[in-house]
Amino acid sequence: MCGIVGYIGGKEALPVLLNGLKRLEYRGYDSAGIALFGPEGLTVHKSKGRIRELEEKISAEKLPGMAGIGHTRWATHGEPSDINSHPQTDAEGRVAVVHNGIIENYGRLKEWLISKGLGFKSETDTEVVANLINFYYKDDILSAVREAVKRLEGSYALGIIAAGESDRIIAVRRESPLVVGLGKGENLIASDVPALLEYTREVYYLEDGEIAALYRDRAEVYNGEGQVIEKEVSLIRWDAAAAEKGGFEHFMLKEIHEQPRALTDTLRARIRTNTGAAASIDLEEIGFNKSWAAENAGRVVITACGTAWHAGVIGKYAFERYAGIPVDVDTASEFRYRNPVFDSKDICIVISQSGETADTLAAMRLAKQRGAGIIAITNVAGSTLAREAGLVMYTWAGPEIAVASTKAFTTQLACLYLIALKFGVLRGRIQDTDMVKYIEALEAIPAHAETILSGKANIQRFASLQFNKNKVFFMGRLFDYAACLESALKLKEISYTHSEAFAAGEIKHGPIALVDTSTLIVALCTQSSLFDKMESSITQVKARGAAVAVITWEDCKHFDGIADEVFRIPKTEDGFSPILSVIPAQLFAYYCSVLRGLDPDKPRNLAKSVTVE
Ligand code: M6R
Repeated sequence: MCGIVGYIGGKEALPVLLNGLKRLEYRGYDSAGIALFGPEGLTVHKSKGRIRELEEKISAEKLPGMAGIGHTRWATHGEPSDINSHPQTDAEGRVAVVHNGIIENYGRLKEWLISKGLGFKSETDTEVVANLINFYYKDDILSAVREAVKRLEGSYALGIIAAGESDRIIAVRRESPLVVGLGKGENLIASDVPALLEYTREVYYLEDGEIAALYRDRAEVYNGEGQVIEKEVSLIRWDAAAAEKGGFEHFMLKEIHEQPRALTDTLRARIRTNTGAAASIDLEEIGFNKSWAAENAGRVVITACGTAWHAGVIGKYAFERYAGIPVDVDTASEFRYRNPVFDSKDICIVISQSGETADTLAAMRLAKQRGAGIIAITNVAGSTLAREAGLVMYTWAGPEIAVASTKAFTTQLACLYLIALKFGVLRGRIQDTDMVKYIEALEAIPAHAETILSGKANIQRFASLQFNKNKVFFMGRLFDYAACLESALKLKEISYTHSEAFAAGEIKHGPIALVDTSTLIVALCTQSSLFDKMESSITQVKARGAAVAVITWEDCKHFDGIADEVFRIPKTEDGFSPILSVIPAQLFAYYCSVLRGLDPDKPRNLAKSVTVE
């Protein structure tokens, strides 16, 4: 999410910053800005929209400074606007900050700063950081930053300049990448390598808690205690195109690998475990801490398209299991032409990565018009859905570039699980002890996702044996069936393989007529109480000559000797399984696409955002 650059050296900083930002525009593009030291001191220039709009805004101005910081934004706190763009400054205009990440305790810090008499202009968590740094700033910006970051919770990569210290840029990170570029007579910072490649290939990768001070002729790195540390210089060998994909061959693969981080951001900001009380879920953003309608809601209706609809199907199962509330789920393109009946106690959850899908927006407007309370789950702040829905829960997945949705899907699931569990608590269905167990399970999900990704070579091997199959069917029961829908869509949209999802119990009612020796069946088997039932379905398709691969829990031996291949994933709560079991399927689809010589990022006939009917 978002891109950061910083420059100090002998060149004019403005072109270097703009050039770097353009290299990072794929990270976020709803607004951009720069802060520069010039003859008039520290000046800040910002604009909603793409970087070219910032360029147009400042092209008439002469900005000859030789040091500065820049940012291209992908909004998290506050809609895309000039005011919410970075750099953010403190109330006195002494400190300018660019930021990637999410400050989880920004609300509390903001209240505290307001109590000290400080005013705020933007809705961003970054303005809180600028004011906090200025609070500690006497005459040394480095020590002010060191003090301020002690109070920050969450993830951040920060670039900071102070009006009185034009000879240096400060950089600090925690759980969000930041690279220091080491040039000759110039030094740079960037959130990603592409912004640096024109200037240097020698870098320091900052580690969590390290603070860098960049001068024209040197870059010093300190640990959290303020001691200088010796960093090893790393040499970047990527070409510029590869660098934008973080060294991955395609955006899709990069985004698959971003899931542990995206899930951490989406989950952690809403889970409270350090209050001394029992673990809880904080959904103040959608009014749920005050119970809102959850206790009295008559029904939940979920509507969305494509992958987001699949998330909705899993949401239905989750709401039924954890909250005991009736749920209807429907594709938005059907929903909008039905005659959906609502009463004022109904809640409609509308899911969309882009927040711009035409059918989804029409469905949301219809539900609203008929009196339902609307909650949007979207990845894009400032999108039409976010603006019109009223209550919004953001998936903090970061920009998703590949047409095939991956990290948006798993973070949508994370949001749905959080809402379902919160509903369960508010409706008296979940006791504290169970909640502790569920929250522990959710918190472990990002690490489990990482474990699955570390075993991707096994999926690649399997794909190399199966990529020419013309029929690949996914089957499962309950949550597994819902995960099959998404798995089959991934495979068909990027590899053009005929791929379908079936509820395993339905196979014998028709689809089994399609099964022959050329068929690959992928059976998702994570619903422990239904292992025997899955075994029967597997036996039925094997008897017709199909090859069968099973995805199941790491400790499950049930399908050994029954399936031709068994893939194991780390164990979690059965109801949370889709968030993990879909990852091998995403990888399988990706590798099949590449092995077929296709471009998984740009599948034929598809668009990332479907803004027409
Ligand atoms: O932006 P949205 O989530 O509203 O998009 C919905 C679908 O168009 C989208 O999920 C589509 O199915 C993807 N290509 C799936 O990978």
